[in-house]
Amino acid sequence: MKKILIVSWSQTGQLADVVNAVAGPLLAAPDIEVVFETLRPVTPYPFPWSFLRFFNTFPETVYEEPLPLQPLQVNPATSFDLVILAYQVWFLSPSQPMMAFLQSPAAAQLLNDKPVMTLIACRNMWLMAQEVMKGKLAALGARLVDNAVLVDRAHPAATFISTPMWMLTGKRGPFLGGSVPAAGIPADDILAASRFGEAIARQLPARDMRDSTPMLKNLQAVVVNERLIASEKIARRSFVIWGKALRALGSPSSILRQLFLCLYVVFLVVMILTVVPVSALVKRLLSPLTRTRIAQQRCYYALPSGED
Ligand SMILES: Cc1cc2nc3c(=O)[nH]c(=O)nc-3n(C[C@H](O)[C@H](O)[C@H](O)COP(=O)(O)O)c2cc1C
Repeated sequence: MKKILIVSWSQTGQLADVVNAVAGPLLAAPDIEVVFETLRPVTPYPFPWSFLRFFNTFPETVYEEPLPLQPLQVNPATSFDLVILAYQVWFLSPSQPMMAFLQSPAAAQLLNDKPVMTLIACRNMWLMAQEVMKGKLAALGARLVDNAVLVDRAHPAATFISTPMWMLTGKRGPFLGGSVPAAGIPADDILAASRFGEAIARQLPARDMRDSTPMLKNLQAVVVNERLIASEKIARRSFVIWGKALRALGSPSSILRQLFLCLYVVFLVVMILTVVPVSALVKRLLSPLTRTRIAQQRCYYALPSGED
C-alpha cells in the first residue's frame, strides 16, 4: 500500500476543485491510501478582500512572514511515498498558508527525503513562485518530481481586470457587459486534471521511493508563457524593493504604510499598463536574437514534468 499526502488550502474553492479532480483516481486505486491535510489559518483570510487588505498582504507574502496556521492534523512522523503540495500564487510567491506550512517543523519532518509533486492553480503568473518553492523544497531535503499547473486561459489583459474583480467583489464575472470573460480556470481544465491522478495511480504502486523521475511526462502538465518570463522577473524585483520600503514604514495596520501603499498601487497599475506592453513589443522586436535563450528558459521553467 502506497501513501500519498495532499496538502492544500483554498479560499474560493478553485484549488480545492483541482485537488479533488487529481485525487479522484487516487482514491479509487485499491493500492493507494490518500491523506488530505487542509491547512487552517488561525485567523481566516477575508473573502472578498478589501482593497487595502489585498494589497497590504503583499509585503509579508513576498518577505515570507505568513499568518500562523492551526496545528496540522496529520501525524508528522508518518512516512509518505508522495507528498502533493497544492498551492495558489500570491504576488508571485507561494500563498501565505502554503508558506506557513513550508516553515513549520511538521513540514521538515514530512518532506525530508520525500518525493514531492507541486500542483498550482492561479491566474497565470507562477514561474517566480515556483522558483521560491524549489528553493524551500531543496532546503527541506525534498525531491521535486513533478509540477502541474492550471491557469486562467483568458487573455492576460482580461485577467488583469477579472482576477482582481473576483478577489475584491467575490463575483467571478463576466464583467463589462461580457467583454471581460469570467475569472478563473475553465471547468473543463479542472476536470481534465484527473489525468494527473490517473498517471500517478498507474505508476506509484510499482515505483521505488528513491525514484525521482517525473510521472507526469507527456500530459501537458505545464505551459510556460514565454512572454511572461521577463515581466515576472521585473515584477518580482519590484515587489522585493517596494515590500522592503513598506515594511520599513510599519506593521500592516500603520496609517503611514497604508497611505504609501495607495501610492504604490497607482505606480503598479501605471507600470503594468506601460512597461508590460512596451517590454512585450521590445521582446518581439528582439526575438530573432533572443530565441535560443528564451527556448532554454522555457525548458528550464517547464521542468520537471514538461510541456509535452
Ligand atoms: C492576495 C492575492 C494575490 C494573488 N497574486 C497572484 C499572482 O501573483 N499571480 C497569479 O497568477 N495569481 C494570483 N492570485 C490569484 C490566486 O493565485 C488564485 O488563483 C485565486 O486566489 C483563487 O485561489 P483559491 O483556490 O484560493 O480560491 C492572487 C490572489 C490573491 C488573493
